[in-house]
Order: sequence, then C-alpha cells, then structure tokens
Amino acid sequence: MMPDNHDEIIAAAALLKAGGIVAFPTETVYGLGADVSNSSAVRRVFEIKKRPADHPLIVHFADASRLHHWAREIPEQASQLAEHFWPGPLTLILPRSRHVPENVTGGQDTVGLRVPDHPIALALLNALGPEGALAAPSANRFGRLSPTTAVHVREEFGDAVDLVLDGGACRVGLESTIVGFNDHTAIILRPGGIPLEALAEVLGGKVIVPEKTHRAGRVPGSLASHYAPATPMELLPTESLWRRALELEARGLRTVIMTWSDQNPERSGTRNLTHFPMPLEPKVYGSRLYATLRQLDRECFDRLLIETPPDGPAWMAIMDRLQRASRLPDPAIKVNDYTSPQEDRNITNVI
Ligand code: TXA
Ligand code: MG
Repeated sequence: MMPDNHDEIIAAAALLKAGGIVAFPTETVYGLGADVSNSSAVRRVFEIKKRPADHPLIVHFADASRLHHWAREIPEQASQLAEHFWPGPLTLILPRSRHVPENVTGGQDTVGLRVPDHPIALALLNALGPEGALAAPSANRFGRLSPTTAVHVREEFGDAVDLVLDGGACRVGLESTIVGFNDHTAIILRPGGIPLEALAEVLGGKVIVPEKTHRAGRVPGSLASHYAPATPMELLPTESLWRRALELEARGLRTVIMTWSDQNPERSGTRNLTHFPMPLEPKVYGSRLYATLRQLDRECFDRLLIETPPDGPAWMAIMDRLQRASRLPDPAIKVNDYTSPQEDRNITNVI
C-alpha cells in the first residue's frame, strides 16, 4: 500500500478511534497499534500479545515538536536526540505527562516515546489528529520474533487484529534504540536501529551503556529468552562452528548453519547440513535477521547454528538479539523486558 492511499489510512484511523487494533509498518518492525486514549483497546493489545500488564507500551506520535505534550520533563539531551533522530528508530524514556494513561505504561511514571520514520505510520498518526497517538508494541506474541512484513503479522495473529496495513519489508528490521536518562546522562537500555556512535556524536560523547546491555548474554541465565526462533539455536564462535555442525550431523540431526564470514555456499550439500550465508554488512544483516529466522523455522531443522557476529558497535543490536534468542528461558526472570527496574543497572561503560 502506498502512503497516498488516503482512503485506507482514513479507514484505519476511524477503526482505531472506534477501539480497533491496527497493525502498521514502521522503519524498524511492525507495530500493533491502539488509540492511546482508548483504555479497552490498549487492554486488548496486551491480551492479543499475551503480554503481562506491567510491561509498558511505546507511544508513537507524528510530530517531534509535540514531545512536550507527552513528556512532562525533557532533559536537554533528550531534546537534542529527538531533534536529530526523529522521525527515526529511537525511543526516549521520559516522565509521562497527564496525556499518557497509566495502563499504557504498566503503572510506571515514565513513558517510551517515538516518532517512527515510515510514510504509512506517519500518515496514520497524522490522520488521528494533532493530539492523536498510538500505543504499540512490536506485533508479535510475547517472547517471539518481531515481524518485519505484513505476512508475519498475519501469521502471528490471524483475525485477532482488525486490520494490517501492508508497507512491505521494514527497512531497519531490528527494533528502535531505547534511551533513558539518569541525572541528565543518556543510558542505552536497548541497542537498536540507531548505532551507539551516532548517539554519542550528537551528545558530545556522553552515552552510557549498562553492563547488561554491553555484555548481554555473557552471564548464563542472567537474562531471559527473547526474540526466539522455534528451532533450537546455538551461537558459536567461528572456530568451533563447522566442528559442531559435523558433530550434530554425525548424530543424524538436520542442521542449518548461518554465517557472516563464510560466504561460500559450497560447504553445504550433505544431506543433513545446510549452509545459509548472511550479508557481511551489519545493516543488511540486521534488516534480514528476523525474516531469515522465520524462514528457517518453517523448514523445521533440528538445530540452527549461528556464527557469533564480529565485535564492534555496528553489530551491537544484532549481537544482543542473537544472544537473547539463544538463551534458554529462565522462569525466575520476566521475559521480554530490557528495562524493567528489577534488572541489573550496573553501569560499566561510558562512551
Ligand atoms: O522499534 C520499536 O521500538 C518497535 C516499533 C513498533 O516501534 N516497538 C517495540 O515495542 O519494540 P515493544 O513493546 O516490543 O518493546 C518496547 C520495549 C519493551 O522492552 C518495554 O519494556 C520498553 O520498551 N519500555 C517501554 N516503555 C518503557 C518505560 N516507560 N520504561 C522502561 N521501559 C519501557
Ligand atoms: Mg517487542
């Protein structure tokens, strides 16, 4: 659908105003939108997604200059980031204004705010009027991979969603970077579509990466499984990848190997071993990651081996998602939350 498909946008906005749930494309992933001021629609989003009520939703709006309508305090750093990166894959966590209902933020006093950079999302938000906004999580079931096409959304939810606006494949393909503020210092709570260096450049170098974000997954069991494909998955360094693959093959397991360094498809070919080379360029890798994992899930392999991506800030969001996906669920820890207060907030890296 093109953004100039005025009639479909108007119909979608009317549906939202009437309490409907509309999935819509953004530049990152598809969102599952409800009119922020309609409490029963917001409640339905939690129900459809099977998400606990205390996990906050991001509020999406169209006009970055209206940030003060949604946030009651805006540190200078937040204004700078908003001005520079919106519309774009950046979510700011700020004290919520009285215009943000409590059920949207799961009872928290802060709210996640974002102006998405997608013509359909922006047209839809504009059609809701100057005070309109959409409370929207990623349009996947709780703990599953985020959708990057309209087809993925339908696969997740079928008819439980009233309308899915089709904007094709999402350009970024990974969720937005989430930034919170502590004493006027920016803290990265979820690495995502805006790379760390870009944030640091705009803020003159003052960005903090909490240890749990920087080293996500290095402490076994410290974080819960998330963004998980259905196929059992192992994240392995380059050196041990093929050895492990041959081991699994010898046990008769149908195994697929996803690499970034080895672009040579000739290494596949035995009956039980499939090689899936991914792009070397992190932006392209990131944009295809979720769709690729969904595709591989459909092929019902016994095991998915993924080559650990290179170190470095350009791969940080990808590394974060792969580590979360390869971790086994820990029932003691809440799933799907990067930013819940009970998680470790030790800060070790000032960049
Ligand atoms: O790219 C994105 O951010 C996509 C698109 C649709 O905009 N949305 C998205 O939403 O990823 P969701 O709900 O799947 O992930 C939002 C994350 C959750 O981990 C949530 O806990 C956190 O943001 N979050 C939202 N509001 C928060 C708040 N007030 N304080 C702390 N964390 C918050
Ligand atoms: Mg999500």
